[in-house]
Amino acid sequence: MSTESSEMRYEFGKNWSRFAKKSFSQERVDIAAKHMMSLLKRDNLEGVRFLDIGCGSGIHSLAAFQAGAAEVRSFDYDPNSVETTQKMWEFAGRPDNWTIERGDVLDDAYVASLGTWDLVYSWGVLHHTGDVWKAVENARKRVAEGGTFYIALYAADVQPDPDFWLRIKQEYNQASETKRRRMEAWYVWTYMLNRRPWRLPHLGWRMVHHRMTRGMSLFTDIRDWLGGWPMEFVYDQDVIDRMKETGLQLENIKTGEACSEYVFRDGRTPVSPAA
Ligand SMILES: C[S@@+](CC[C@H](N)C(=O)[O-])C[C@H]1O[C@@H](n2cnc3c(N)ncnc32)[C@H](O)[C@@H]1O
Repeated sequence: MSTESSEMRYEFGKNWSRFAKKSFSQERVDIAAKHMMSLLKRDNLEGVRFLDIGCGSGIHSLAAFQAGAAEVRSFDYDPNSVETTQKMWEFAGRPDNWTIERGDVLDDAYVASLGTWDLVYSWGVLHHTGDVWKAVENARKRVAEGGTFYIALYAADVQPDPDFWLRIKQEYNQASETKRRRMEAWYVWTYMLNRRPWRLPHLGWRMVHHRMTRGMSLFTDIRDWLGGWPMEFVYDQDVIDRMKETGLQLENIKTGEACSEYVFRDGRTPVSPAA
């Protein structure tokens, strides 16, 4: 299910910059790390070379760095995401083994120049490029022999009306700031409160639950959901089948949320500590 119109693009980086200024904390990094380790079924990333494609706020690169990754490389299309990730790097003490830059996962030459990595991580990114399958393919090629590919993609399986949301996203991107705030309020009223004001305490619970799940902020993610464009939804089984054709075996999957999370392992002879 694709949205051809990729000339329009949501300013993800502004949202990440706001998240970093208003909501960043070491607690959130710890939660992000815990979530990542639970999907990877690991306690740490000691010795692992970690590539973060579409690093956004940079909080997950920071989590990987703190989990002991031997090297971290983070890139994002949006200059504001790059700048925000640089703030995370400063927070980490400006380590030499963490590089951050602007880059496009659809740019074949740039992506090939990155070489291969023990762990390629791309959470909630590849479906926002305008060409999800090419982005998945380019990202997959960066996985070293025996390495791990951890991605999250918007699942068509759990989305009863993708066309409705694609229309809403277009409207949000074309809206003034005032209209955007109104649309965010509409989303909270309709989907968080179910149009029942007495559910307000439930909203507080949702905010805490959201933070505890992956370290993110509910309101940052609502803006990201309404704005995120370009945008495609994919079926879980299509992802698994396509990756199998490239020699990746599914090791772990988490479904049922807007994004399905997949951990694949490259079946070739392991040559890295990630094996
Ligand atoms: C929903 S955010 C996810 C950020 C982060 N991975 C996370 O889990 O919080 C999507 C990110 O992908 C970036 N992005 C979109 N298209 C991209 C592309 N072609 N190449 C690299 N990054 C891209 C956006 O700028 C944005 O920061």
